[in-house]
Amino acid sequence: MSSPPEKKFPSSPPKSPSSKKSSSAGSPSEADAGGTATTVEGILPASHWVEQPLNQDDDADSTYDDDAASSTASLTSSIFAYRTLHGRTYHSDRHTDAQYWTPNDDQAMAAGDIIHHLLTLVHDGKLHRAPLDENISRALDVGTGTGIWAIDFADIFTNCEVIGTDLSPIQPSWVPPNLKFELVDALNFPWPFPPNHFDYIHMRYLFGAIPDWNSFIAQAFACTKPGGWVESFEASCVFRSDDGTLLEGSAMDQWGKVFVEAGRTKGKPFDVVGEGLVTVAFREAGFEEVTEWEFKCPIGKWAKDGKLKEIGAYALKATLADVEGWILRTWNQVMGWSEEEVIVYLAHLREQLRDPNVHAYCLMRCVYGRKPLSAA
Ligand SMILES: C[S@@+](CC[C@H](N)C(=O)[O-])C[C@H]1O[C@@H](n2cnc3c(N)ncnc32)[C@H](O)[C@@H]1O
Repeated sequence: MSSPPEKKFPSSPPKSPSSKKSSSAGSPSEADAGGTATTVEGILPASHWVEQPLNQDDDADSTYDDDAASSTASLTSSIFAYRTLHGRTYHSDRHTDAQYWTPNDDQAMAAGDIIHHLLTLVHDGKLHRAPLDENISRALDVGTGTGIWAIDFADIFTNCEVIGTDLSPIQPSWVPPNLKFELVDALNFPWPFPPNHFDYIHMRYLFGAIPDWNSFIAQAFACTKPGGWVESFEASCVFRSDDGTLLEGSAMDQWGKVFVEAGRTKGKPFDVVGEGLVTVAFREAGFEEVTEWEFKCPIGKWAKDGKLKEIGAYALKATLADVEGWILRTWNQVMGWSEEEVIVYLAHLREQLRDPNVHAYCLMRCVYGRKPLSAA
């Protein structure tokens, strides 16, 4: 399993029909969609999982993720020391109807910080792929989450004023002096920043949050200085295997199918990577030197290569850290599964995730491009 070289695209290609897919026009809202179980070809009914026995004595190894990589031990103890066990919380709907799908509590933040560690391994320790000048002066991280990427970035680019924005004020207050966090709904256009302002805009893991990637990336284009860079990094919600070990109809197979359907139903696509929405949006916004970098991220320690094995260990660790938080709201409110059905499905999913015979991965894609100097 290897990553292909970075691909570059012409700056002004013809418009792609697939860009229409990101439109939310006519889609019911998440709230409207609640409570009705959906029947869709390829998706097993929720009741299927309740009827399936859980195989306790098969190859699935419950310690598979415990010793995921010896180096994860210290990470785990420090991150989970303050984990909340009762109740889940989501961002406030008082000032926005963005309705983001994952919780914002300690458990969700712990999983988010493991993902950050995983992604720095994926990028060989780097925080960006765009060729940034070390003297850039303004950077923005849209949907910053725990702010961990922005903190690391501000620590390296000490002369750069960094802003991280989110729906939830969950970021720490002790941060580098050149970093601040702001509560901003990124779906509220225009963004509250001057045009041609930032040298670099970063956005990561916003799948399922953006109804129309074309207008979203166009906002980023407007706020970027001519000559500045915008970079997006997304992961596919679909698990795949290249050797047939991920069986159709299995819990991990259904995971992606249900997510794709939920994204379609609520008008905020989850499989942004599979549908190629970000690349199309960069090209339509007018970026030049648009470059794609892809990575097959193993889930679990099944890869032979040492680095991929470590990455897979962290991917599994992150998934198991909050798999319930990732699906509960969407499966229940959008797809109409009962909470009990979700819990039983999750037991099957966890079992398969821990099965070393399943060689699953998810496709990740980074897209970056430069605003032309002529585009003031
Ligand atoms: C999966 S997390 C990723 C966090 C961070 N980018 C990272 O990679 O570590 C997605 C974040 O996007 C934020 N988000 C979702 N919709 C948003 C919106 N409309 N405006 C601002 N932030 C949003 C969520 O609150 C959440 O913190």
